[in-house]
Amino acid sequence: MRHTRIIVTHYGGPDVLQVIEEACPEPKSGEVRVRVLAAGVSLPDVLAREGVHPETPRVPYTPGWDLVGIVDQIGESVSGFEPGQTVAAMPISGCYAQYVCLPQHKFIPVPAGLDPAEAVAVVLNYITAHQMLDRSAKVKPGQRVLIHGASGGVGTPFLQLGRLADVEMYGTCSAQAAEVVKELGATPIDYRNSDFVQEIHRLTGDGVDAVFDGIGGDNLWRSREALREGGRVVVYGFQAKLHGGRMASDAPSGRHPIRESAILGWYILRNWFRAGRKSMVPYSI
Ligand SMILES: NC(=O)c1ccc[n+]([C@@H]2O[C@H](COP(=O)([O-])OP(=O)(O)OC[C@H]3O[C@@H](n4cnc5c(N)ncnc54)[C@H](OP(=O)(O)O)[C@@H]3O)[C@@H](O)[C@H]2O)c1
Repeated sequence: MRHTRIIVTHYGGPDVLQVIEEACPEPKSGEVRVRVLAAGVSLPDVLAREGVHPETPRVPYTPGWDLVGIVDQIGESVSGFEPGQTVAAMPISGCYAQYVCLPQHKFIPVPAGLDPAEAVAVVLNYITAHQMLDRSAKVKPGQRVLIHGASGGVGTPFLQLGRLADVEMYGTCSAQAAEVVKELGATPIDYRNSDFVQEIHRLTGDGVDAVFDGIGGDNLWRSREALREGGRVVVYGFQAKLHGGRMASDAPSGRHPIRESAILGWYILRNWFRAGRKSMVPYSI
């Protein structure tokens, strides 16, 4: 049996993605093979393709952080899985493929009847948002939060989970996404045409309790300014490095899995020496 998958042969823009056809992988002992029904497409995939995500695999590799699929074949000594069962996994790479083999402990069962494209959003994006709200910021009902990129893959789960947690939400987004952000329960702030720090202080008075910042760079200092005393910026990405889905700088492409995280770490370190009781904490799933 044959299948197709996407591969990245060198780091760079979307043109480095290639479709190949090859023999279907066979599950080894302890592995389960799934037929992929849905694979998540996320900004971390783009950052890895550019070679700058901390989890960037060595080329050639297949992108795709997460999947929902149907168990199709079972390797020797596997127990607890059966063909036809719907499962999810987050191997970090490899999911842009028709068939994927992984060790059985990588899979969790998915309840029957869910739309696979909706279920796969839970694996990376919702867990990321949930852990940051619950563990990194430890938000309490009635607190105020600012979510950057509120209409995005991680931003929309933030809004849905933040509403359930009963927090007051503000979300930066472009003007065309304002309606979606409002429908999901937040006050939209157009980051392209207004100053979000001024807007937050105009709307709240003394600022927010937590900011979730996947933008990085000097945006982190602005996020800090939007905090009230005792507040916290959760740092979880460096989207500012991208422009139109490509690295904004013309630095030579290659595998640099530590560079951008080290730069974020440098911001977090410098925060300690800034005036005010405002913390910055990193988050990685
Ligand atoms: N640390 C972790 O474990 C972890 C896990 C998952 C994701 N991430 C990070 O999370 C971030 C978002 O990923 P994603 O997959 O959700 O991306 P996405 O779906 O592309 O969403 C990003 C959103 O950010 C908005 N945006 C762009 N520049 C902005 C700015 N300067 N200010 C405010 N909003 C801006 C975009 O809105 P417009 O297009 O409307 O401008 C877009 O809606 C990335 O940095 C990613 O690496 C981290």
